[in-house]
Amino acid sequence: MNSYSSNDTLKPLSITDLAAMKQQGEKISCLTAYDASFSALIDRVGVDMMLVGDSLGMVIQGHDTTLPVALRDIVYHTRCVSNARRRAFIVADLPFMTYATPLMAAKSASKLMQLGGAQMVKLEGARIDCVSFLVNQGIPVCGHLGLLPQSINQLGSYKVQGREQAEADQMLVDALALQQAGAGLLVVECVPASLAKDISSQLTIPVIGIGAGVDCDGQVLVLYDMLNIGTIKRPRFSKDFISGAANIEAAIQAYHQAVKLSLFPTDEHSY
Ligand code: KIV
Repeated sequence: MNSYSSNDTLKPLSITDLAAMKQQGEKISCLTAYDASFSALIDRVGVDMMLVGDSLGMVIQGHDTTLPVALRDIVYHTRCVSNARRRAFIVADLPFMTYATPLMAAKSASKLMQLGGAQMVKLEGARIDCVSFLVNQGIPVCGHLGLLPQSINQLGSYKVQGREQAEADQMLVDALALQQAGAGLLVVECVPASLAKDISSQLTIPVIGIGAGVDCDGQVLVLYDMLNIGTIKRPRFSKDFISGAANIEAAIQAYHQAVKLSLFPTDEHSY
């Protein structure tokens, strides 16, 4: 088995490195991270990207949704993560209502980058107005389509998105529009594997899946789900990597290797 421990160079990865990985057909591994100790561990294993997700509202703060997360929370946790990383690319989430207008988005994103040390910010939905405004200010942006947890009160439940043809077609249109507006990465969450495959092959930017099948350019999981230490039930698309592993580092290594070798997700973890 190949061993992917690409942490032999300590130069921080850039968005162009991630784009080159897509070009070369190398899968991108990503985990959420919220503190310095896990950041150092994930980075040491060689995981390519860390997302300081607003999932911290649920797994760190104990809320039912991501909505109560404040910008200062993401700034604080991004600083903790960036203090300890040496190589992994750092993306930080813009929380609910911090990008209601393009100007708000720019003010919020500048805090994540200047105070938190994020290299890119992520926002949910086809917010073309915000993406092009941010990119014009020199702020790298990651889009997020499919299941949008910040819209849970409109969605009603955390369910698979894009099963209907019209919805799938719209998602592809939105993905292309985000890329056209300058997004450098796209996360697709909880969508049928065939749709995510289509989006990944039509976009030139890397597409990172979560619950989106094995054919995305990379994978992300919520760290506490894959370590099976969350307080809420692990989603079907996630996998417990700790059982059978000798320790936390081995579990993260197993995830990283499985992503690199396209061994995760399997059908069991896809729709
Ligand atoms: O907040 C988060 O952790 C995320 C991932 C689930 C993609 O957005």
